[in-house]
Amino acid sequence: MHDKQKNILLGVTGSIAAYKAVDIARRLMDEGASVRVVMTHAACKFITPLTFEAVTGSPVLIDLFSGPFSHINLSKEADLLLIAPATANTINKLRCGIADDLLGNLCLTHEGRTVIAPAMNHRMYRHPTVQDSIKELKKSGVQFIGPSTGSLACGEEGEGRMADVSAIVEAAVTALTPKDLSRHNILVTAGPTIEPIDPVRYISNRSSGKMGFAVARAAARRGATVTLISGPVSLPQLENVTFIPVKRASEMEAAVLKRLPKATAVIMAAAVADFAPAAGSSSKLGKDDISTIALRKTPDILKKVGSKKGKRILIGFAAETGRDVESAKNKLKQKNLDIIVLNDVTQKGAGFDVDTNVVTIIDGKGKIAEYPLLKKIEVANIILDRMLELATKAQRHKGR
Ligand code: CTP
Repeated sequence: MHDKQKNILLGVTGSIAAYKAVDIARRLMDEGASVRVVMTHAACKFITPLTFEAVTGSPVLIDLFSGPFSHINLSKEADLLLIAPATANTINKLRCGIADDLLGNLCLTHEGRTVIAPAMNHRMYRHPTVQDSIKELKKSGVQFIGPSTGSLACGEEGEGRMADVSAIVEAAVTALTPKDLSRHNILVTAGPTIEPIDPVRYISNRSSGKMGFAVARAAARRGATVTLISGPVSLPQLENVTFIPVKRASEMEAAVLKRLPKATAVIMAAAVADFAPAAGSSSKLGKDDISTIALRKTPDILKKVGSKKGKRILIGFAAETGRDVESAKNKLKQKNLDIIVLNDVTQKGAGFDVDTNVVTIIDGKGKIAEYPLLKKIEVANIILDRMLELATKAQRHKGR
């Protein structure tokens, strides 16, 4: 998580989806949160407290009378109360303020944010009492995530499935993240581009897209309006991000230029293929038909954006073999950038397909900041901090 460690109270109630809450707890901890689990007695019929204790390393709380003030103290320490899965019974009780168990008491004493992920049969979900409770709880500031539509545990189809674990984790982390980028409209590029030789072969650059996706994810969590333009990657879709898939460099260029007018910042993490076959073939070439391939250069998208930059903050990447600061500085100058993020792809943990990176950030004034091995999401937040710093400075300058 972006700033100090957050405390999450995870309420688990009696639904068949309770087993998925184990993954939710684990993934929230991977995001840097501290997680305490509170179970209802009904939840214990579906999954044992021991499973959560093994995952979180802390005792699970079930009984209202387990300690004199646990119903007050636990919620005092919690930055977020997440109830996943939340049954119809729990939702209705919360709406009425019924506190006949520990979770109900904690809901009444918790003053921070609450996120609820309902899970129930679709007829229960559609029942006017449940719908009324959800409406009233939303009015009082409770956030709901899901349910989604699909096959239910009872064998019926309908709306009532607990939202995906990733969507719940993202909603929880987003709820805890300060919205310091809410005034920004950020265009991010990611992944490789591919230039077809024929319908089955292409020229491309190595890229998993993970760095660009991390930037888009971090910016969305911080409240920015985010458009992610990406070449072909195998990464899951991001929540709260407009996703534009592209293939060739020319398609990426068109997509970027179309959305540029609204952007306050552009962050180009894409590994754009520098060359394309001069003449692609619309039918498959036999191996004896190719001995050499004539190439042409693809458009330099970032350079073009740099020439139309206006007041936008422009950030590029330079993936080099070796820590080539001079080459990165030249790219920054030639492409009219505010910041360039240099990464030496030969360093351990900084190459392709990994969740970490080692970067050096160079700005237009020649300031060089070197960072150790960090998770890509942490690198993304550092880049966004620098972007915000520059945007705030420019704003102050304008105000003078
Ligand atoms: N870039 C781009 N269009 C291209 C090539 C690169 O927009 N056709 C962008 C990349 O997204 C990156 C930055 O420019 O943000 C630098 O890319 P890089 O491949 O390191 O540099 P190149 O300009 O392609 O130079 P070279 O390959 O000679 O190092």
